[in-house]
Amino acid sequence: MRFNPSHLAAIAVSLITLMAPVMGFWRLPCRGVLTVARIDPIVDPGIPSMHAHSIHGPNNFAMEVTSDDLLASECTSCEVVQDKSAYWTPSLYFINPSGEAELVKQVGGMLVYYLPRGDNVQAFPRGFRMLAGDTYQRNFTLPTPDPPKAVWAEKDKTQFSLGQKAIGFNCLNYDNPPEPSLMRHNFPDRAFIDSKCKDGIRMELVFPSCWNGKDIDSPDHMSHVAYPDLVDVGSCPNGFEKRLVTLMYETIWDTMAFKGQAGEFVLSNGDPTGYGYHGDFIEAWENDVLQRAIDTCTNLSGRVEDCPLFQLQSEDDQRKCTIENPKALGGERYDFNPEGLPGKVPIIRGPGYALRPISSPSAPETMPKPVVPDPKVKLPQDDQPVVPRPETTTAPPPPTTPAPKTPGMVSEKPKLEQPYTTSYSTKGSTIYEIVIIRTTVTKTVDLPSPTAQAKRHENRSGVKGRFRRHGHALNH
Ligand SMILES: *[C@@H]1O[C@H](CO)[C@@H](O)[C@H](O)[C@H]1NC(C)=O
Ligand SMILES: *[C@@H]1O[C@H](CO)[C@@H](O)[C@H](O)[C@H]1NC(C)=O
Ligand SMILES: *[C@@H]1O[C@H](CO)[C@@H](O)[C@H](O)[C@H]1NC(C)=O
Repeated sequence: MRFNPSHLAAIAVSLITLMAPVMGFWRLPCRGVLTVARIDPIVDPGIPSMHAHSIHGPNNFAMEVTSDDLLASECTSCEVVQDKSAYWTPSLYFINPSGEAELVKQVGGMLVYYLPRGDNVQAFPRGFRMLAGDTYQRNFTLPTPDPPKAVWAEKDKTQFSLGQKAIGFNCLNYDNPPEPSLMRHNFPDRAFIDSKCKDGIRMELVFPSCWNGKDIDSPDHMSHVAYPDLVDVGSCPNGFEKRLVTLMYETIWDTMAFKGQAGEFVLSNGDPTGYGYHGDFIEAWENDVLQRAIDTCTNLSGRVEDCPLFQLQSEDDQRKCTIENPKALGGERYDFNPEGLPGKVPIIRGPGYALRPISSPSAPETMPKPVVPDPKVKLPQDDQPVVPRPETTTAPPPPTTPAPKTPGMVSEKPKLEQPYTTSYSTKGSTIYEIVIIRTTVTKTVDLPSPTAQAKRHENRSGVKGRFRRHGHALNH
């Protein structure tokens, strides 16, 4: 065989992977939804939030809340009772041709992945809070699909790029091998969802895990943390060297219930694209349970049952933990709202940055008429055909619960043949290699975006700094 330097590089990388310590993780199920409401104690403390959220966590959750308040809660909608942290994301709605909004059913609550990645991983400090994602983003600014992580360039590793790559939408069909996580960063189009995603759409969000080591929050709720240079793994930027446990949220939405119906899926923040997906977190773990779990819960199964530290509660008890919506919300309807998205949130399609139009919640506002696809018009496909290659010959059993893939198992392997992109995904105990062979990106025509100034524009320019080259990129 002729010597080829890229072979050597591939061998070196696989050796690093093999020698890296095996790292455990756990998936924290939050089967119950505390409530769906316009509440966001991080971004809009004390007042109705801009848009609706699906909220998971403890019952002291409120428009204004501290970690200590959360810790004093009587119950939580998550499985580990020592965890009173709060987790929330925008809800998914279906807007029909009359402009009425129907909440899409969330399947199985939320799974919160706790992924200890990197060295000296620390628990969140008491009172820690953060956001991930940008509610105003409406496009993806890099080529899709992502190139393999092994060849990411500087432009892939800016905090802005990493934040966009930290969002994923999977088409679920448990009869087929699963798609890899974070493979697409926006909603697949409606025709694809209806025809392919029998088990719904899974939304994923990875939070930043590099911390500045001192602040538990920041004015924009983001600039005290940063992403490592490969989203969930890799090196932390200068000034953000402290490594926190990596959080990833997963929620599944029963989009199939709307198959064939005229209308469209829109996030509660008025985003029909998915690029503006985001999530919020307030830490509230009892005592030092989280740090001890990071240090000792290393079973690769990812099951909370396999961590003896955790006190678990039944799914029934998780679902029983709910809250009444605050009076300040005036009985606003969330399951079905004839006036459109709760809070009269307008739909803003992008691709420009969706600055919030000046409005007050009480002022009458005109709701743009939703664009409903004409069934006679053939919808463009914007999805990557995926050719799955099972590594084992036995077909995996269909999962009994919404089957999360384990990002603990996801790895990247440099391929010698470009332009293929590979990634790995697991279902049950079978690992799949997934090869993306082609991409056709077609965009539907967008409406002009509003030019109005945002009343409250989150300033995201706080995170700056030089980024180190990846020294120990493949540390999983
Ligand atoms: C991990 O958990 C499984 C059960 O899911 C158990 O059989 C196995 O012994 C555990 N491994 C370790 C190292 O504790
Ligand atoms: C895409 O988003 C970026 C960042 O928000 C924005 O600056 C850019 O104008 C958008 N692209 C288009 C084509 O509108
Ligand atoms: C955003 O923050 C940066 C630094 O924190 C500041 O220089 C800039 O003026 C701010 N921009 C706006 C629009 O507030």
